[in-house]
Amino acid sequence: MNAPQDPIAPLRDFVVAMTRLVEASADEATLIVEGRRLLAQLVAREDWLPEPFTRPDPQFYRQFLLHADPLERFSVVSFVWGPGQHTPIHDHTVWGLIGMLRGAERCQRYRRTDDGRLVPHGGEEILHPGEVDAVSPTIGDIHVVANALGDQPSISIHVYGGNIGAVRRHVFDAQTGEMKDFVSGYSSEVVPNLWDRSGVVRAGDWGRLTGRMAPMYLHSIRSSRIVRRHYWPHAAMQDRLSLGWRALHGGGCPGYPAATSTSMCGCGQVTPVDPDLSGCAPRTKTR
Ligand SMILES: [Fe+2]
Repeated sequence: MNAPQDPIAPLRDFVVAMTRLVEASADEATLIVEGRRLLAQLVAREDWLPEPFTRPDPQFYRQFLLHADPLERFSVVSFVWGPGQHTPIHDHTVWGLIGMLRGAERCQRYRRTDDGRLVPHGGEEILHPGEVDAVSPTIGDIHVVANALGDQPSISIHVYGGNIGAVRRHVFDAQTGEMKDFVSGYSSEVVPNLWDRSGVVRAGDWGRLTGRMAPMYLHSIRSSRIVRRHYWPHAAMQDRLSLGWRALHGGGCPGYPAATSTSMCGCGQVTPVDPDLSGCAPRTKTR
């Protein structure tokens, strides 16, 4: 669960996972299988996409770059359809994944005949929110896509095996099969800020995990008793919690002696510390 102060975390997590994936393998089949699984997780919820990257244009479908890998091994795009908008017949020349976020898309695949014409390949498919489709020169790369909704926008999240806005690819004449080069570019000169994690850092792990106040047992020096308090684990309070935690443990956590705050120790957040001082188990987590 992500706290409200980090709504873009699902996209950041996806980018991190895709980066690890392209580091681990350059095999197209592996990237499509594993990338499809990751993209399905991303589009399983639709509340993370910043509003500026959801705006349709009244005339043209839009392609907002959300992230491009620095080595151009993959890119992530928010594809925003106005009502009734559609692409020409086109290819990609790299692998691509299409995850439906909102609304619905119609897709018709094409194949080339021996005499160079383009003919429909299979029936028309409808992509619904949460579903993921794939294209590539290996598994079928030519299609036409449209917003399946005539009265409202639709949004799909696309992942491609390259910096798709800078890839030279093709559009096709449906009747003659004639092919023309094109480079799509992007609809915006800015990308969303994935990296402002300050809200979560200030809130501490408890806030990120639960969005709730942290129960803490503190040693009251005045009364010499253990008292239970709840705190919002923001930055200023972390200092007080750290002081209380140090008092509780007599100056050091037995499981994690180097810890200097409750967020490093973790035991006061996931499981409240017992008043008899036995609740702080030796640290077993790897961080
Ligand atoms: Fe496409």
